[in-house]
Amino acid sequence: MPTTLPEVLISEDRIRVRIAELAGQISRDYGDRDEIVMVGVLKGAFIFLADLARAMTIPRRVDFMGLSSYGRGGAQQSGVRLVMDLRESIEGQHVLVVEDIVDTGHTLHYLLDTLFARHPASLKACALVQKRSRTVADVSIDYLGFEIPDRWVVGFGLDYKDRFRTLPYIGTITPDE
Ligand code: IMP
Repeated sequence: MPTTLPEVLISEDRIRVRIAELAGQISRDYGDRDEIVMVGVLKGAFIFLADLARAMTIPRRVDFMGLSSYGRGGAQQSGVRLVMDLRESIEGQHVLVVEDIVDTGHTLHYLLDTLFARHPASLKACALVQKRSRTVADVSIDYLGFEIPDRWVVGFGLDYKDRFRTLPYIGTITPDE
């Protein structure tokens, strides 16, 4: 486990400003809907989702899914597994998936496929950060916070071996393996 504090990549202030912008844009885009369902992906998205949901101005529900991926760092398409399902049905609902990070994109792809099969009225995706140079799956992210370089990032929900999630900024570390 690295012992020094992660180097700042995206500061707390920049994250706060960007989340307010995203919340405004989402609130405008869904302004004529009765309600949206925000689906957070555990564990990584819980902090982003909390801040985003509170900055929005339209009626919204929050639900969570737990996914686990095997394989080092990212997920192979076949290696994504649902470990906790939503509490409520999303049939006929306007669904916004909220992800912490899109790396290869396999996790988001799996998630969108899984949710689409449940017949939502609409389905969009929001992610805090994307390593675009590594994304190979065919996914479109409707609302993106930041594009980041191919480094391991932690903080604001993101972890390294389940550590650093509660750092208030996004920082980079060098994994020790
Ligand atoms: P995917 O490759 O887009 O399917 O991403 C798989 C998962 O790998 C993400 O949901 C994260 O949990 C994790 N992940 C990928 N890159 C990072 C990173 O830089 N920091 C923390 N988690 C990451």
